[in-house]
Amino acid sequence: MLFDMGQLPADIRYKILTATVTPRPIAWVTTRSRDGIANAAPFSFFNVLGHEPPTVVLGLLRHPNKGLKDTARNIVETGEFVAHLVPQQMAEAMNATGVDAPPEVDEIELAGLETLPSQMVAPPRLKACPVAFECRSLSVQETGPRQLAVIGEIVCAHVAEQFVIDAQRGHIDTIGLDLIARMHGSGWYARPRDLFQLVRPPLID
Ligand SMILES: Cc1cc2nc3c(=O)[nH]c(=O)nc-3n(C[C@H](O)[C@H](O)[C@H](O)COP(=O)(O)O)c2cc1C
Repeated sequence: MLFDMGQLPADIRYKILTATVTPRPIAWVTTRSRDGIANAAPFSFFNVLGHEPPTVVLGLLRHPNKGLKDTARNIVETGEFVAHLVPQQMAEAMNATGVDAPPEVDEIELAGLETLPSQMVAPPRLKACPVAFECRSLSVQETGPRQLAVIGEIVCAHVAEQFVIDAQRGHIDTIGLDLIARMHGSGWYARPRDLFQLVRPPLID
């Protein structure tokens, strides 16, 4: 079946995209407002874009009647954020910070999350997450009236010691991280439990 994106209502477009582009990694993003209020929220329109420099992208939708989400406003105003990857044991806390709280509410405090100071940016990082990327915004692109794409440069990455197998070689215990990803519909998530390996064919010159 052909879906002509230009003809579809926005909510159907959203459903087709989120039911097919799966599993999506989740960035649990902390930011700080100009007034110093900390914020945390999950985003699955998220991925890594490159490594020279290391970059990530976030797709931030506008609230239908309230304008920019706190995360988007804070990144536009301060240029800084921390993107954490979410382990299974933090799934419920992550989900709790998806609540639509007003800007003056510190969602990190609300969810009872422990934080640590970041090294190179102002927003705090979440202690319970095994991977955290401290980021500075490289570009904020308005890709439509209801959405922004933020490209951030990862200025430093934290990986919890117990998951670093060989720091010199950059070997990480990926399976041990036990990260969750977003699936289809409302509230479905996945863990990478069914893996297979393909050996890449040799280069032909
Ligand atoms: C798993 C998950 C993934 C989400 N992904 C996105 C996303 O990619 N883009 C988006 O705009 N909102 C996304 N949301 C919704 C936001 O997290 C939600 O609107 C949140 O209240 C925004 O918080 P803020 O206003 O503090 O930034 C997601 C929610 C959940 C639970």
